[in-house]
This record gives sequence, C-alpha cells and structure tokens, in this order.
Amino acid sequence: MTRMPKDQPVILITGAAGRIGSLLRRALPDDVGIAHHFGGSFGLRATDILDPGPGAGHEDFRVGNLADPGFVDALFEDGRVAAVIHLAGYPREAGWDVLLDANIRSSINLWEAARKTGVDRVLYASSNHATGFYPRSRKIDHRVTQRPDSRYGLTKVFGEELGFLYAHKFGVRSFSMRIGMFLPQPTSHRGLSNWLSLPDTVRLVMVGLTADYICEVVYGVSNNTRSFWDNSAAYRLGYRPQDDAEAFAERFPGPDNPDDHRAEHFQGGPYVSNGLTAPTEYLAELDFDTR
Ligand SMILES: NC(=O)c1ccc[n+]([C@@H]2O[C@H](COP(=O)([O-])OP(=O)(O)OC[C@H]3O[C@@H](n4cnc5c(N)ncnc54)[C@H](O)[C@@H]3O)[C@@H](O)[C@H]2O)c1
Repeated sequence: MTRMPKDQPVILITGAAGRIGSLLRRALPDDVGIAHHFGGSFGLRATDILDPGPGAGHEDFRVGNLADPGFVDALFEDGRVAAVIHLAGYPREAGWDVLLDANIRSSINLWEAARKTGVDRVLYASSNHATGFYPRSRKIDHRVTQRPDSRYGLTKVFGEELGFLYAHKFGVRSFSMRIGMFLPQPTSHRGLSNWLSLPDTVRLVMVGLTADYICEVVYGVSNNTRSFWDNSAAYRLGYRPQDDAEAFAERFPGPDNPDDHRAEHFQGGPYVSNGLTAPTEYLAELDFDTR
C-alpha cells in the first residue's frame, strides 16, 4: 500500500485489474486537468477481486470482493474518497447467480459506502446493452427509456438507477457511461457504430471526474460517423472525442451475422438474439418488421 498525504483526495477505481481499469490506472495520474480539479493533486486507490500482480503501478491497490459490504466499507473508511470510477462487474451475459454478486450486490455496497462517507460523485460503467433492444435505424439519446437486451443489460439499468436515486436523494452525483465497444480498434461491422477508442475513454472519464452535473447518462462512444447515439449530453459537459471508426470501414463491409436478422436489426446485436425464445410478433412493438 502506498502512503498518501493525509488530506489528499482519492479517486477510487473498482474493477481496476480489468481492461478499462488498467488503462485508467496508467492514464489518470498524469492528467493535469484532474489534478487541477482536485486542488493540485490526488491519489489513486484501486481495487479488484483479482490481484493484478507486480508491476501494476504505485497506487494503493486492495484485493477483495465488492459483494462483501465489510470490504467495501473499508475502502472508504478514511473519508478521503472524493470520486469513484465503478468498473467492477461481470462484463457480459451470464446467469443470475453470477450477475447478482458481481453487478447488483457490488453496486449496492459501493453506493451505500459512498453515501455514508459523503463521496461527491460516482462514474458508472453502464453498457449499450441497457438499451440494446432499440433498432439500429433509430438514433437514440440519453432520454430514452432503457430497453435491456439481456440479464446483463438489466443489471446495468439497475446501476444507472442506483445512480439516479443516490444523486437526487442523497447528493452523490452520478455519471453513467453507456459504453459501446471498448477496444484499440473496431473488430466488427457493428463496431463501426459503437466503438469507443482508448484515448476517447480517458477523455470521457476526465469529463465525468471534473464537469458540473447532478445525474447524467452519456454514451461511451467515439466520434463515429455511424454512431447509433446522439451523445449531446456528453458534448454539453465538454466531451470531445477525437476518433472515428470510419477509418476502419473498409475492413468490415457487410453484416456481422447475415443469417441473424434480429441481431442485425437491433443495436445490441447478438445479445438480442442470444437465448431469444419469444415469438417474433413480440418484437413488433420494438420496431422490428415481423413480416
Ligand atoms: N469493455 C467493453 O467494451 C465494455 C462495454 C460496455 C460496458 N462495459 C463495462 O465496463 C466495466 C469494465 O469493463 P472491462 O472490459 O474492463 O471488464 P473486465 O472484465 O476486464 O474488468 C472488470 C473487472 O471487475 C472485476 N470484478 C468482477 N466482479 C468483482 C467483484 N465482485 N468484486 C471486485 N471486482 C470484481 C473483475 O475481476 C475484472 O477485473 C464492466 O462493468 C463492463 O460491464 C465494458
């Protein structure tokens, strides 16, 4: 554990051994804009159920399970956590037994600890699968009702609504990022619409850490020509993504799943058709042409 000056504010990153967490642990310490926001300097506290092993940096890293409320409370007990970047979770479809601990209990414990210790804000890694049942032909913004396409997507809706409740009821600001496809480069046709580059991820998190808001939902997406989303909420707060998946368009000319019309029709892609047993006419009210 690294010692930090006693009154230095701390940013807590959960899921810090994961893909996005590893990027942010490298990128945030050098960000002068964030340091300025926190009055000159800040410390990083990182946590994950997995130990990232040696060479992970100099931050205060704590290994444990966020589904354990005692472990979560201890992360906050010195009262120095000013902001949380909540990335921990099971990042794809799974059974309820997995998702309950990783995505639901963990998030409840985290927001409760934030409330009890007066944390200013929580940035939350939501997902495009919170709205995956919208058709690709419809450009949606942050105001649409969620349409989760999976159990996983529903856990992300729950996280967004935890943010809503704890912001308006308890004064913990909330910044939910409906992340599309976080990768160095898009790897599919659908990715031409929902790709989020690594540098744009840092830019969006920077906005979430420093902008003035109470409760916001934004899309975690680059400046893609074919984006499914109107990301005006993020732009209003100062997000200026620099990357556009169109640069990779020649690599992915056709549909990813030519035989799966439902996956191709909806923004959530294969998350929609995976395990889908409802009769086709049940999709009519979701703008799916059932003829
Ligand atoms: N990568 C993407 O394209 C993408 C897209 C949409 C949303 N997201 C969300 O962003 C977040 C981070 O994604 P990622 O790609 O870095 O995922 P990841 O799987 O690489 O990282 C998630 C981390 O959370 C940790 N974790 C899981 N359960 C935990 C628990 N109970 N207690 C403590 N730690 C736990 C895991 O060990 C893992 O290191 C996830 O919540 C994911 O749902 C990611």
